[in-house]
Amino acid sequence: TEHPLMLSVNGENIHTRVMADTPLLLVLRNDLALNGPKYGCGLGECGACTVLVDGIAARSCVIPALGMTGRAVTTLEGLGDRDRLHPVQRAFIEEQAAQCGYCLNGMIMTTKALLDRNPSPSDREIRQALSGNLCRCGTHIEILRAVQRAII
Ligand code: FES
Repeated sequence: TEHPLMLSVNGENIHTRVMADTPLLLVLRNDLALNGPKYGCGLGECGACTVLVDGIAARSCVIPALGMTGRAVTTLEGLGDRDRLHPVQRAFIEEQAAQCGYCLNGMIMTTKALLDRNPSPSDREIRQALSGNLCRCGTHIEILRAVQRAII
């Protein structure tokens, strides 16, 4: 059976219906056409699906959507767009941090959460914050530079 779900996504109130075990990621991508969060592992291990829940970075592939009742979810689309980039998005573009790019949306969301709680993190704090976001291409150096650029 489906259950009613009310939550806020990128500042908009959403009313939908979900099964008890439907992950938030599927609601965002399939029902709301928000493709910022990516489906990587589906197991909470790679970080590609990272969104903010009440400002905290969270893995939307393992969070039941139903648990989001009354919460505020932010996806990459909620940060900015082509004409109005968020400073973190701009920094990742300027540092050419992408190779395949699949991990980057999750990296950007994790970086946004980090800088919101710690506006001037040390290198160690940046590495720690991003340690759960996997990049299989190995562009870690560019990603770290992008985070540093976003701080300045
Ligand atoms: Fe959610 Fe990998 S897709 S952590």
